[in-house]
Amino acid sequence: MDSKDVSEKIYPSGYEPKETTSIDTNVRNQLLDQILKSSPTEFINTDLFTVMSKRRSTRKFTDKIVETAKIDKIIAAADTAPTAGNFQGFEIFYVKSPEKKQQLVEACNNQPYVNAPVVLVYCKNPSRVKLDFPEEILKKFAIQDATLAAAYSQLAAQALGLSSIWIGMFDEQKVMQIIDTDLIPSSILCIGYPKQDKFPKPRRNLQELVHTVW
Ligand SMILES: Cc1cc2nc3c(=O)[nH]c(=O)nc-3n(C[C@H](O)[C@H](O)[C@H](O)COP(=O)(O)O)c2cc1C
Repeated sequence: MDSKDVSEKIYPSGYEPKETTSIDTNVRNQLLDQILKSSPTEFINTDLFTVMSKRRSTRKFTDKIVETAKIDKIIAAADTAPTAGNFQGFEIFYVKSPEKKQQLVEACNNQPYVNAPVVLVYCKNPSRVKLDFPEEILKKFAIQDATLAAAYSQLAAQALGLSSIWIGMFDEQKVMQIIDTDLIPSSILCIGYPKQDKFPKPRRNLQELVHTVW
């Protein structure tokens, strides 16, 4: 991070502190903590394993608007994910315009549910990863950073009583054009209130999944 950012205390619009007496210059973590610890607006079981066991992809959302506090938490959750060297080799594009959401539907192989109440595009940003490794490795780190960030957001959405669909099928170039970036997207998370609650899908037996190596 540019040291100028820390010394000048630049806050994202809408998050400027009411009082400026704090001596803690770690602005990013103050904001992150504040968002993550803010009270839920309703009672939800946020036990991690309950959240994991109940999550189920949703492709039908109600029109109910997702509260800003929940969107903040979903984004903040992404920022708690581990990243290679802590360089945070990813960016999140929060698509708000109905026109752009509709364009994304087309860019995503005409998957209509991409036009969801909340649409977040997770992009790889290998140029942030300041590690002395070949470019291919940095790209590999960036895709892992972006994927983990999206996964953390997806679990956070579930914990907040929302549901989501992970979109991996898209035309990268078209998505980049729509969100106006030269960064390559890794996934799109479409989030909203589910029209109906569904049971989680079955998985293979853990014995088949795990390959013990001695
Ligand atoms: C890498 C990846 C790509 C995916 N791409 C799409 C997609 O383009 N469209 C879609 O409808 N679902 C997509 N999904 C969602 C999966 O179909 C879904 O997670 C899977 O069927 C398991 O269901 P569950 O999430 O309810 O457990 C994707 C999921 C992952 C992890």
